[in-house]
Amino acid sequence: MADIKFFSGETVPLEMHKVRIVQKLSLIPVEERLQKISEAGNNTFLLKNRDVFIDMLTDSGVNAMSDTQLAAMMRGDDSYAGSETFEELSAKLTEIFGTGYFLPAHQGRACENILAEVFVRPGNIVPMNFHFTTTKAHIVKRGGTVVELVIPEGTVASSTHPFKGNFDIPALEKLILETGASNIPFLRLEAGTNLIGGQPFSLENALAVSKLCREHGILTVLDASLLQDNLYFIKQREEAFKNWSIRKITRKLADAMDIIYFSARKLGFGKGGGLCMRNERLYEQMKGLVPLYEGFLTYGGMSIREMEALTVGLEETMDEDIISQGPQFIRFMCEELEKRGVPVVTPAGGLGCHINAADFLPHVDRHEYPAGALAAALYIAGGVRGMERGTMSEQREPDGREPISSMELLRLAVPRRVFTLSQIKYAIDRINWLFHNRELIGGIKFKHEPEVLRFFFGTLEPTSDWQQKLVRKFRKDFGNSL
Ligand code: F0G
Repeated sequence: MADIKFFSGETVPLEMHKVRIVQKLSLIPVEERLQKISEAGNNTFLLKNRDVFIDMLTDSGVNAMSDTQLAAMMRGDDSYAGSETFEELSAKLTEIFGTGYFLPAHQGRACENILAEVFVRPGNIVPMNFHFTTTKAHIVKRGGTVVELVIPEGTVASSTHPFKGNFDIPALEKLILETGASNIPFLRLEAGTNLIGGQPFSLENALAVSKLCREHGILTVLDASLLQDNLYFIKQREEAFKNWSIRKITRKLADAMDIIYFSARKLGFGKGGGLCMRNERLYEQMKGLVPLYEGFLTYGGMSIREMEALTVGLEETMDEDIISQGPQFIRFMCEELEKRGVPVVTPAGGLGCHINAADFLPHVDRHEYPAGALAAALYIAGGVRGMERGTMSEQREPDGREPISSMELLRLAVPRRVFTLSQIKYAIDRINWLFHNRELIGGIKFKHEPEVLRFFFGTLEPTSDWQQKLVRKFRKDFGNSL
């Protein structure tokens, strides 16, 4: 976003776009919201979108597209094999990343499935700055173990560290020496580290990780799903690169990586995904799994129209004015909440605003999922749908023990270019109200707990009648308001 000052001195994240297509929203009354969240087993994933007012569940596949993307979708070259649309997408990725080879897939986790199947063997160790739910599930399924080596500041909710997603390099060196490089099929570096609050790594850190891996012959894999935010933060916060273009920063990072995969539901304002590499051998190793799991090599499960939109979206990702919108809105939301005393992850990251539910609800036991309870409470309070990112999002140990997550967050994603500032202000207002009434909020416990990725389909119930009390207090404070 351009640096536009207001006469009033106010800091306003001014949109550098205008809205030309809209979708009608509705807000159901608080009593109905209680009923809907109960029917959804207190799991925001199980709510119907028609019952949601402000959907902050995710930024995955729900970012607004540009007029140029929509125009491109009208002229795709539809064919099962060898379509021109694929050639253009592949060429765009090569132009941006310098990689040369591209394997399309239907979304990010499909790439993770392929990576895990090709490279991970039982007993292997895969170091990461931090895991992502689907990535870890694929690696664990193949008998591998994920080792998280984010710097200690990474999991400190309130911090001033500009790059909380950085790898702990000494810890990585130690792991390599102890484990042996041959037991590490690859290292995964996640841009805009999702589960710790959308926190970036610095380019300097990424280059150091790459150097160390190359010295030991370890493959480096970049999860570029949240790259757009990370690129913006490198440009904004890293002195050495502040005069570099987004394109140049991208290329420097890409050159340091062996494989780059992404969810295009996040990167490129589209849908789909894929794996990029410059080494033909790596391409050949993974190629066969694309027709097996995804689709033919020139679409990989994506529709032609998705690929057209993605080609344009990737180009738009190189524009700082475009990629700054998300982080600027998120910063506004975090700063306004901080002013009201609400504990949020700082510094503000990408993806969304993250509320530190452990501090918001210190009276709720960590085994009763404070972030999940807060997600249910926020839906009741305002029809705002967030996502639990804490202990509930973890998997139980094989022996049934429940590991308490290092962070207990309620994620309020800010899909790019979707919400107006007044909608963000409404969400802030309802969170603030909840904060003033936090003593009313209690815990939740599982009624039905799936074994794998339990947060998607699990159903839970409140541990007391706290939700009814919350509704009564809402009516008392807001009268007839929705
Ligand atoms: N990697 C990261 C960093 C992600 O954030 C995601 C998805 C994936 C991989 C998997 O990609 O969804 O296309 O299969 N994150 C979504 C989210 C689900 O809501 O944060 P996918």
